[in-house]
Amino acid sequence: MRLKNLKLENFRNYETAEISFSDGINILIGDNTMGKTNILEAIYVLSLTKSPRAGYDTDLIRLDTSKAIVTGEVLHDDVIKQYEVEIDKFGKKVYINKFQIKKISEYISNFCVTSFLPNDIEIIKGSPSIRRNTLNIQIGTIYNNYLKNMNEYNSLLKMRNEYLKRLNINALSDTKYLDIINEKMLEVSVKIYYFRFYYLNLINAKIEGIFKKLSGISGLQVIYQNNLGITEYDEEKIKKVLLNKWKNNFNKELMQGMTLFGLHRDDLVFLVNGHDARIYASQGQQKLIVIAYKIAELLIFKELKKEYPVLLLDDVFSEIDIKRRNNIIKYLKSDMQVIITTTDIEDIDINLVNSARIYKIKNGIIKLNKGGVRNGRRKGTR
Ligand SMILES: Nc1ncnc2c1ncn2[C@@H]1O[C@H](COP(=O)(O)OP(=O)(O)OP(=O)(O)O)[C@@H](O)[C@H]1O
Ligand SMILES: [Mg+2]
Repeated sequence: MRLKNLKLENFRNYETAEISFSDGINILIGDNTMGKTNILEAIYVLSLTKSPRAGYDTDLIRLDTSKAIVTGEVLHDDVIKQYEVEIDKFGKKVYINKFQIKKISEYISNFCVTSFLPNDIEIIKGSPSIRRNTLNIQIGTIYNNYLKNMNEYNSLLKMRNEYLKRLNINALSDTKYLDIINEKMLEVSVKIYYFRFYYLNLINAKIEGIFKKLSGISGLQVIYQNNLGITEYDEEKIKKVLLNKWKNNFNKELMQGMTLFGLHRDDLVFLVNGHDARIYASQGQQKLIVIAYKIAELLIFKELKKEYPVLLLDDVFSEIDIKRRNNIIKYLKSDMQVIITTTDIEDIDINLVNSARIYKIKNGIIKLNKGGVRNGRRKGTR
């Protein structure tokens, strides 16, 4: 999968911009606030139709304008397709080869990216919803059905919660409708649990070794925490336990008007030798754990889909010492397309720089660099 080019219209600080990418390493250099992350964000939006930064879709529209458009051509299986995402205050539209795709879930998982962005440290430090969201995106970009299952689950969950509220307010005793929703939720839940157990087993088969290579520390594990207390996939057991949880906690759920048990409450815990990384790992270690998690994602994608997604690395090498930087670079393969941002070219390995296409970004203007980014200049002199 190769992103050949990207066009922006009224996206963040870009009025209009065009950039073409090489099939290998691409580096975007610029001072703070010049618009580097915005380019990676636009690529992420082109892939997943949503920004990786929290907020509203309309935040992406350039201030004082009404519509943001991101377009990109992607080479995949020897065919080039054009992808497009348009955002205005009424919502968003997505197109493949100018043909509108009505269901967002059918658009996603065609052009795939894996990203490491500074905010991703929240995968360790942030709330469970961030980890669930990351997991959903990871599985969803590999298995399109997973996203459909998730959509179905979310709408059933909404219905269930609304019905619990109605039962409570109207003091109704007939729970037939709830039984029907429960039955449907059990059916879709087991499909999602299947994917989550399967994917996290793949992650755990890889992440320990990757983290060891990056940091020298062994014993990293990702624990899948679900509020059913289930540790491996077993369809009948999951259905039985979940139904029992709902039955035994009916009054509690009724009082709160909320479904308290199920996969919408799942979480992941990162343990290093049995210790919770959120509490015990240093800032640098936490960053390396997230990078190891993302590299595992990249390798799993390659194994299952026989190619790499496009890799987006936002300021990944800052705050990481030379030795560990080099350990990360070993995972960048010649058949990977990588787009890296940096404020300082000195942060990036000279061999990568020498093989890269380099762009300089200044106030929303992108210029191809014609050689000589280093030229012996010292850090901080540009
Ligand atoms: N909707 C918007 N309209 C106009 N400008 C915006 C919008 N959203 C963000 N910006 C501006 O885009 C600029 C560039 O942001 P970006 O995050 O890409 O910078 P950066 O080059 O990655 O900087 P850093 O090195 O600090 O990470 C910021 O100055 C920000 O104010
Ligand atoms: Mg940035």
